[in-house]
Amino acid sequence: MAKGKGFGKTILFGEHFVVYGKTGIVAGLEKGIEVEVEKSDEDEVATNEYKRERMESLKAIKRALGVDAGVRIKNVHSELPAGGGLGSSAALAVAIARAIDNEFDLGKSEKKICDAAYESERIFHGTPSGIDNTAATYGGVIVFTKREGGNVIKRLRIKKPFYIVIGISGKQGITKELVGMVRKRKEENEKWFSNVLKKYAQISKNALDALGKGDLKKVGKLMDENQILLREIGVSTKELEEIISVANKNGALGAKLTGAGGGGCAIALAENEEKAKKISSAIKKAGYRSFYSKIG
Ligand code: PMV
Repeated sequence: MAKGKGFGKTILFGEHFVVYGKTGIVAGLEKGIEVEVEKSDEDEVATNEYKRERMESLKAIKRALGVDAGVRIKNVHSELPAGGGLGSSAALAVAIARAIDNEFDLGKSEKKICDAAYESERIFHGTPSGIDNTAATYGGVIVFTKREGGNVIKRLRIKKPFYIVIGISGKQGITKELVGMVRKRKEENEKWFSNVLKKYAQISKNALDALGKGDLKKVGKLMDENQILLREIGVSTKELEEIISVANKNGALGAKLTGAGGGGCAIALAENEEKAKKISSAIKKAGYRSFYSKIG
């Protein structure tokens, strides 16, 4: 029997705008998913949910790691809310790949683990960008740009660690529908949307610069500006706005929704653990689940 873990992720900047080729910034969370696997006569997944996909995903991971023997996935322990845009499918895939690597003493590199998890992501998401499995494998901060013929994914060295507080709205947004809605609005008013994209491009450029310099105040301000644009394209909700407002009143340097919106989670930036704790308890007091994570 062996264990493995994969990290969750949160989008710091750029959801929706990355679809149109703008640069996004993503952070790996400390929380994630842990699994236990063991050798078995045949492949087995101990779940009723998405059973067929889970089985296909296990086979794809095994194929990528070059394992022929049977594997039983015994236990799955998730610290991430499902459907919250926190990258749970990629975290699970990385956890399975690492657990198999441990069980069979394969000694695969981190890159091989990441590639195996990508094969699993393809089963759930068709043509995934690769950012979730990269964050789930390595953690840290990752810069991402979608490009025809190969997305650009780079790890960003940050000057100073920081804390991200997550507030869970309790509602689920459906990424595919939200992306479709934004596209429709764009098609109805191309001029407006190209202006929004232009504003976002400046935000992401400044955010890369501020993260590189460790200027967290600036990063927070840019998160607020990013949220204004997300509101403008129509993906924020009453609950997300409430979490953001509570965070900002309780010492956050900035706050925004994360992921596709329409539900899911909001994030707030805190400069240290004490502040993160305070913001997180205020969000809980307002009636939402919350946790925080150190980044970097
Ligand atoms: O909710 P998530 O973590 O799957 O994020 C969706 C991000 C979008 O930009 C809205 C869609 C995409 O494919 O990039």
